[in-house]
Amino acid sequence: MKKTKVVVIGVGAVGSTTAYTLLLRSRMDELVLIDANAGKAVGDALDMNHGMPFLGHTKVWAGTYEDCKDADIVIITAGAAQKPGEPRLNLLKRNVAIYESIVTEVLKYNDDGILLIATNPVDIMSYFCWKKSGWPTNRVIGSGTLLDSARFRYLIGEKLQLDPRSVHAHIIGEHGDSELPVWSLANVAGSSIALSEEEKSDIFIHTRDAAYEIIEAKGATYYAIALALDRIVTAILCNESAVLNVSTLVENYHGLSDVYMGVPCVVDRQGVREVLDIKVTEEEKALLHRSAGKLKDLIETISV
Ligand code: 2OP
Repeated sequence: MKKTKVVVIGVGAVGSTTAYTLLLRSRMDELVLIDANAGKAVGDALDMNHGMPFLGHTKVWAGTYEDCKDADIVIITAGAAQKPGEPRLNLLKRNVAIYESIVTEVLKYNDDGILLIATNPVDIMSYFCWKKSGWPTNRVIGSGTLLDSARFRYLIGEKLQLDPRSVHAHIIGEHGDSELPVWSLANVAGSSIALSEEEKSDIFIHTRDAAYEIIEAKGATYYAIALALDRIVTAILCNESAVLNVSTLVENYHGLSDVYMGVPCVVDRQGVREVLDIKVTEEEKALLHRSAGKLKDLIETISV
């Protein structure tokens, strides 16, 4: 049997927490850590290996791009991170420059894996990787609004005093300031969410602005995004056909095409197997168009 291999490129706060989360959950046989700061990757691999007597069998090492060969999934978290108060979109130019060389290196050694992108602005970075790789869109996936949807479900659950896993609700569009809540489809056991407009607005604002709040408090966000990435990796490696709000290329989606954004997708061993067409209200559709328009304008500013 072929060993399952996951590569994490960029072991800053998000990358190393993701690697550790994948390790704790024994998601793969082999885990490779790559970073421009080779010492950080070496240190993380050593630190994780010393935990093996408590864990089990995963082989972890600090590698080079050559180790992307045979990887089932290459997760890219490398790049500049937001400073307090800084919007994700500000990072675009810097992170595209960083990705130019990373993606070129990965493609030298791998042509049939799945690229999972977490670097912000994640929708545009994913579009960039899709274009630059020439890979089919199902194999280039962004973390999208999976984390935002988790924050949304958590906050609704808190308000209703319910387990967030029993709350079905979606944030779609940009992973960022123009994202939108699909309240018209939010439900618990098939019934719509019984909250006032004011309560709903408050929940959405806290969802949308959560990263700003956390970055202000401790400099970065990493635990929940690591769990979201673990969720996507699991859906892929276990061929789950799970419905997850990842960032993917939309084509003829409520009148939108040629843009990556967070929408509910079926995720399995092929990556994004299918984009689910959800029913939205006219108001939600207008907000989705606004969000996509913002992403498209920014895509125009980068050359791939
Ligand atoms: C987050 O939403 C910063 O995009 C990151 O936590």
